[in-house]
Amino acid sequence: MHIAPSILTADFAHMGDELTAIFDAGIRWLHLDVMDGRFVPNISFGPMLIRSLRPIAEQYGVVLDAHLMIADPDRYVEEFAAAGCEYITVHAEACTHLHRTVQHIRALGKKPGVALNPATPLSAIEEVLPDLSLALIMSVNPGFGGQRFIPASIDKIRRLRTMLDERGLNDVVLQIDGGVNKDLIAAVRDAGATCAVTGSAVYAPGRNRAETVAELRQALG
Ligand code: DX5
Ligand code: ZN
Repeated sequence: MHIAPSILTADFAHMGDELTAIFDAGIRWLHLDVMDGRFVPNISFGPMLIRSLRPIAEQYGVVLDAHLMIADPDRYVEEFAAAGCEYITVHAEACTHLHRTVQHIRALGKKPGVALNPATPLSAIEEVLPDLSLALIMSVNPGFGGQRFIPASIDKIRRLRTMLDERGLNDVVLQIDGGVNKDLIAAVRDAGATCAVTGSAVYAPGRNRAETVAELRQALG
């Protein structure tokens, strides 16, 4: 199970330290929440920030995973590919021609992911599953860190796990994002997730990062 911290609730004035703290604690996957103020109500950061943190990530061999909560993401996938993102995840709800977008990311030599909002059924990605490197179940409505995990997401993970297993798609990363903390991480793993995004559970105000990472690991047993 990968633990993929999201920097959304990190201290942006000390981003270098925020990164080395979790990388020194063994984290090797970083989740980058890109918001455009249109697809979601919030604005976060774009490829420029990702480019600037790339050297630290490369030094530690960390996977960069961009979660694009932006309208019409085709406009920007080249930029995120050039910024060093290995996984580029778009929202099914933001793509008119999802199959084309997925192929576009693949053609850039990157790993395509598709995210589903809580109200979007799994059938929205069924036809493109064989083309994906990552499938992301949102367990909150996207836009903000620190929201409560929607309990029905556990069953949605289970059903996606079954869909992937039935098709022999064992290499597709099943990522869960939103409200995952030490009390939930084992449950999402047991339901079939292979990558858990953890924002505020790692970057909690006033908490030591090595300790929050250790707590999550401990919860996984
Ligand atoms: C929500 C984002 C997240 C999320 C993670 O729009 O995609 O990745 O903020 O943060 P927590 O774990 O605090 O929900
Ligand atoms: Zn995210």
